[in-house]
Amino acid sequence: MSSERLLAAIADEVRSCTRCPLAARRTLAVPGEGNPLSDVLLVGEGPGAREDASGRPFVGRAGRLLEELLAGIGWAREDVFIANVVKCRPPGNRDPEPDEIAACAAYLERQEAALEPLVIVTLGRFSLRRYLPRARIGAVHGQVQRTADRFILPMYHPAAGLRDPSVERILRTDFQKLPQVLLDARRATAAAMKMPITDHELRVGFTPAP
Ligand code: URA
Ligand code: SF4
Repeated sequence: MSSERLLAAIADEVRSCTRCPLAARRTLAVPGEGNPLSDVLLVGEGPGAREDASGRPFVGRAGRLLEELLAGIGWAREDVFIANVVKCRPPGNRDPEPDEIAACAAYLERQEAALEPLVIVTLGRFSLRRYLPRARIGAVHGQVQRTADRFILPMYHPAAGLRDPSVERILRTDFQKLPQVLLDARRATAAAMKMPITDHELRVGFTPAP
């Protein structure tokens, strides 16, 4: 099945999911959305009020900042895929509970398997913890972390940038690194597969040119 159809099938399941207590108080579940062919997956924490009302990720104030950060590197939200650690809004925007994160994890795992992103950008600590349980955001933000099969680029959460101008500045600086990280990831992947790849080919993909 194509990544588009796989992602659509996962989204349908999420919309009717009742696997954890967050289902009871949500308006709409927020499966995630974006370009099903993108090399880049952005992972946030969970829906807020605007997301819960619309069923779409990052459409509130944090979302506006996220779009601005992407625009700063010449990208739009349609160029990447955006998902969250939990798909339903924690009441009052409280932190998601461990049992809720665990119940929802399989959806994000399946989204990763369908999209096969070369780079995963984590937004905030719950997302970072999923991929790098021991990492501290203050120490690793903006620095690519290589795991067995992935390039992880940890970022502060855009909502933290809204609360603190110094964090917003760090976010802008860190986002500037994303195109080069994508380029490095493409080069490394091609090398691992022993595929000769030209500089031109490196820059052509479903995500805008690095
Ligand atoms: N914050 C998140 O972590 N995710 C969203 O989708 C919106 C705000
Ligand atoms: Fe299902 Fe995840 Fe929503 Fe819980 S948060 S009800 S596991 S989709």
